[in-house]
Amino acid sequence: MKPTKVTLTFNNGAEPIELPVMSGNLGTDVIDIRSLGKQGYFTYDPGFMSTSSCNSAITYIDGEEGLLYYRGYPIQQLAETADFLEVAYLLINGELPSLDQKSEFVGTVRRHTMLHDQMSNFFRGFRRDAHPMAVMVGVVGAMSAFYRESSDAFDPLQRDVATFRLLAKVPTIAAWSYKYNIGEPFTYPQNRFNYAENFLHMMFATPCDSYQPNPVLARALDRILILHADHEQNASTSTVRVAGSSGANSFACIAAGIASLWGPLHGGANEATLKMLEQIGDASRIGEFIKRAKDKSDPFRLMGFGHRVYKNMDPRAAIMRKTCHEVLNELGLHDDPLFKLAMELEKIALEDDYFIQKKLYPNVDFYSGIVMRAMGIPNSMFTAIFALARTAGWVAQWTEMMSDPEHKISRPRQLYTGQLRRDLVPIDKR
Ligand code: CMC
Repeated sequence: MKPTKVTLTFNNGAEPIELPVMSGNLGTDVIDIRSLGKQGYFTYDPGFMSTSSCNSAITYIDGEEGLLYYRGYPIQQLAETADFLEVAYLLINGELPSLDQKSEFVGTVRRHTMLHDQMSNFFRGFRRDAHPMAVMVGVVGAMSAFYRESSDAFDPLQRDVATFRLLAKVPTIAAWSYKYNIGEPFTYPQNRFNYAENFLHMMFATPCDSYQPNPVLARALDRILILHADHEQNASTSTVRVAGSSGANSFACIAAGIASLWGPLHGGANEATLKMLEQIGDASRIGEFIKRAKDKSDPFRLMGFGHRVYKNMDPRAAIMRKTCHEVLNELGLHDDPLFKLAMELEKIALEDDYFIQKKLYPNVDFYSGIVMRAMGIPNSMFTAIFALARTAGWVAQWTEMMSDPEHKISRPRQLYTGQLRRDLVPIDKR
């Protein structure tokens, strides 16, 4: 029988404290510690290793079993049969759309894909060599200046409009950050394409040539978007929720999420994986790098391996691995030295005792980086594409939080380790 209460006892004779145990529909039970603060104790949990920060009905992960569900649907079924906008609809609205609902949703997204014309001037303020994620943090944040009439986080109608604007415009912003980077003119969205095709078009079309996206590559990109659309309370999603907990508008909150995603331990891992493969350079050097990854005194880690939650194969990685081979076949790239190196590294790490014992499997970003590289997408855009996929999850999570009656401003406590009270010594006497 599951316990419904736990008792906290103290070894100094203080009164024990009873705490309720809560059960979700799936997953680990949680101890409700909300009353502890009033009883003179805080809990200590850097990195939220054992802390549930909210209740959520959007995504479920079982890291031990390698399961990932969006609104109850296994990720494998969604990646196989749905497209990204259907998945975005599901994440935001809780159910898969009917044909009519889908066509209305897609139509609304399409009507919002262009940016306010003045936003192109905003891009021009950046250095040409700015990293696309730096541009995205700035431009997505600036949407609250360009779309002020959908910036009130407490108005459900404005929240909906902002959600459509974010879903529709973030791909345009991501593609334009690349175009600006390489000095090509901005390509306007084309509503005859689907979401993934349109993004490829905005990335690769130029005014002097016609561009037709390759359907295998567009499908692969759509799958990358589905697999990255949401992932429970990870660092960037928690950032969005913490930023939004104060009532900040969704554009500002998503910009905060993009900033958090940028780090190499989170969304930046796909870019870091490719940089690492380039650094390894040749299969003969894999042993040397595996040795470094195991060495505690060396900060080097094998990028694209390991996950905070998955201690079994990341189910997204298994799907992406398949897509990776489809794309390499389509493009005839199986013999490319870098891809051969990646496959060799995957094999060696999967057989190595250190990685097996620590349950460090290749994660989704190991394969998505390889797929995007094969598609001709530069490394610096990998995390930007992750950001445009995750925008669907961020807006769903932000909206869920804003409608949650239990939602409170996030305000963690701390264990203070600084100086005790002391008196200031005037500067000439220090
Ligand atoms: N290479 C070598 N050793 C590793 C690696 C790695 N990639 N990842 C973890 N370890 C070791 C780590 O040194 C530690 O060893 P020990 O117990 O002896 O101290 C043990 O495995 C557990 O690692 P941890 O850092 O305590 O685990 P974590 O849950 O805090 O970190 C992680 C998870 C993803 C940050 C980490 O595995 C990592 O840095 N991986 C490389 C970066 C990466 O690929 N990140 C993408 C994650 S998937 C995309 C996303 O969801 O954002």
